[in-house]
Amino acid sequence: MGRFYIDGGRCLEGTLRIQGGKNAVLPILAATVLNGDVSYIQDCPRILDVFTMIRILESIGCKVRWDDKTFMIDSSSVDSYKIPEELVREMRSSIILLGSVLGRHKKVIISYPGGCPLGPRPIDLHIKALKQLGASIKEEHGFIICEAPKLVGAKIHLDFPSVGATENIMLAAVLAEGTTEIHNAAKEPEIKDLQDFLNGMGAKIKGASSDVITIEGVKSLHQVEHKVIPDRIVTGTYLAAAAITGGEVLLTNVNPNHIQAINSKLKEAGCRIIEEKDRIYLKAPKKLKNIDIIRTQPYPGFPTDMQAQMMAMLTVASGASIITETVFESRYKHVDELIRMGANITLEGRTAIIKGVGHLTGTNVYAKDLRGGAALIIAGLVAEGVTIVDGAKHIERGYEQIDKDLNILGASIRKD
Ligand code: UD1
Repeated sequence: MGRFYIDGGRCLEGTLRIQGGKNAVLPILAATVLNGDVSYIQDCPRILDVFTMIRILESIGCKVRWDDKTFMIDSSSVDSYKIPEELVREMRSSIILLGSVLGRHKKVIISYPGGCPLGPRPIDLHIKALKQLGASIKEEHGFIICEAPKLVGAKIHLDFPSVGATENIMLAAVLAEGTTEIHNAAKEPEIKDLQDFLNGMGAKIKGASSDVITIEGVKSLHQVEHKVIPDRIVTGTYLAAAAITGGEVLLTNVNPNHIQAINSKLKEAGCRIIEEKDRIYLKAPKKLKNIDIIRTQPYPGFPTDMQAQMMAMLTVASGASIITETVFESRYKHVDELIRMGANITLEGRTAIIKGVGHLTGTNVYAKDLRGGAALIIAGLVAEGVTIVDGAKHIERGYEQIDKDLNILGASIRKD
């Protein structure tokens, strides 16, 4: 599956450009099915999840071409509403095609995504909302069969501001008859990027970034060109990586507004941060301070996707820090691996207590999920000796070239 070898002890310094956002581009790629025309997507990250989504789009009849970081997707010849099971298994977020393929064909068959390393990830909110738009949904032999002779706008109240459910409703409602309102909608920046993309192809959506999103159904859509927002989690990962090494970095192609919750915690840990329009500078102290508490929450709260990386950073801070994971109950698969490297972490239910230690030691560890894997690389940057992180494929689902990026900043990482 590939491994990373990290020779620890080097201070990160320099400038790096951040890739386009994974969680922004995946729903945007799903949305390209809707216009029956060509979509040009700029700054699309070349990561495994994107490759999987492209394979799904091709499997249902899309023609895809790319030129460096710009993807051209022509959905005029989409002729299938069945999403291949093996590809859904590779990427749980392929559930986002439920809304877009239903919107285009009024029918979709997709296998049930099932559990994943983050614990149970139900899709009840997606299903309930699509039913409110007029879809009939059957679950047979592990497949979801979703049909709607006609989708009609509705007022939908989400029990929880689920990112995926908000996106699926937006996608299904764009070509529905009448107006849809999503109350208690997710407010993540990726939702606003999806709104901008869909409006670029002729949709009428407003309210993204607020609690209520309104989608006025339209009859048809057209060609669109769009640049994906920068990846706020990759930005946060590299800031945490610089911080743990006592480094000084400038990251470009970032939106500082999207990472306020992360920045505020990095400042608590003693980092100096300067934000500019599309750049961010961080200078870390020699010894990081502990952080009293980090609680993961929906945006604009602290992102669950940065929990593991911050934990890695805090393993060598002075004093004890507390992290409470409120979004995904079992998102602590990295804890045992960090302990193997010498970290002092105690888990009590959803809460982790991290007592800073003097040093970590390089050893063989396993990346069990994407962000947990990134956390192990961060820990490896300061560990004594060589850290071998197995399971590189998990990390490559979301990072274009984490080894090359960190090497640009002065780390010593190689992959085989
Ligand atoms: C998206 C992100 C993921 C991030 C997460 C939370 C993408 C591709 N993935 O995932 O990186 O960690 O947001 O910020 O954008 N839930 C239900 N029922 C549902 C749907 C969700 O109970 O029908 C629960 C989940 O189990 C979880 C919580 O809601 O506890 C948040 O999930 P959600 O916001 O839907 O996350 P995803 O869209 O799956």
